[in-house]
Amino acid sequence: ARPVILDGDPGHDDAVNILLAHASPELEVLGVTTTFGNVGLERTTRNALTTLELVGAGTPVYAGADRPLLVPRLSAESVHGQSGLDGPLLPSPTRQAEDLHAALFMIAAVRARPGEVTLLPTGPLTNVALAFRLAPDIVPLVREVVWMGGSVDVGNWTPAAEFNALCDPHAAQIVFSSGVPVTMFGLNATHQAVATPERIAPIRALSRREGASAVGEVVAGLLEFFAEHHRDRYGWNGGPLHDPLTSAYLIAPHLFGTQAMWVDVDTSGGPSTGRTNCDVWNLSGHAPNANVAMTVDADGFYALLTERLGRL
Ligand code: BDR
Ligand code: CA
Repeated sequence: ARPVILDGDPGHDDAVNILLAHASPELEVLGVTTTFGNVGLERTTRNALTTLELVGAGTPVYAGADRPLLVPRLSAESVHGQSGLDGPLLPSPTRQAEDLHAALFMIAAVRARPGEVTLLPTGPLTNVALAFRLAPDIVPLVREVVWMGGSVDVGNWTPAAEFNALCDPHAAQIVFSSGVPVTMFGLNATHQAVATPERIAPIRALSRREGASAVGEVVAGLLEFFAEHHRDRYGWNGGPLHDPLTSAYLIAPHLFGTQAMWVDVDTSGGPSTGRTNCDVWNLSGHAPNANVAMTVDADGFYALLTERLGRL
């Protein structure tokens, strides 16, 4: 199994990513690390613990950055509710996060298994950037960073910028310019994977089987809450399940089409700050520094997700 660290800001889609990774024997989850993002750090950490509690997983949780490197902190209660995980009834965590900063955990985990560990950040890249700055020796030892964030085309928080990129553009630029192999799942890819009522129904049905766990019901509740904002704002028939595409990519790469290109993050502080400028046509002549997801087999992804949630 491929060793991974799930770094995120749960968050509805981050929580589903945690569940998908835990249900998949292809992945060995070394730890779950948290950052500010959708809501503040205290809540994202609690939400990570809650998600693990739901499936009885004892994976260690490490809290990390409570703010961006330079810019003021943003949050997304408008999308995820006050708790960051509004919607279904969830268990209260019975344990706490470990007494080690997320960035320090990443450093130790990568050094312990050089060349093996893949980082799956699904929030602002602050923890990864901190780890790379504290311990530059780990950069060539990371197998890959598979990040949900950015966009080849439009943004979702400003016309130019996607939320995770906008939350900490400097951290994103540190990661993209580090030389580490990066695969980016931006909005241009994740918007292809909308959780429509037809895709939610089989997930809910998982809990209706005899002796089945509550996971299907809970995930269906999360996806329905997440759909509301996207229905109001975009007129879509559901919310795009952004973050779980990162785990799905490692489990079933054939579901995705990617293209190597140069990606440069706008840190100007101007109207396009936080934009990931993706050089699809190699207009700059720069060598590619990222593998960017372009196509998603959405039906294949939802079939995989439903089958995997059924194992929990
Ligand atoms: C990203 O922002 C967050 O709200 C989601 O969890 C996802 O990681 C999408 O822009
Ligand atoms: Ca997220």
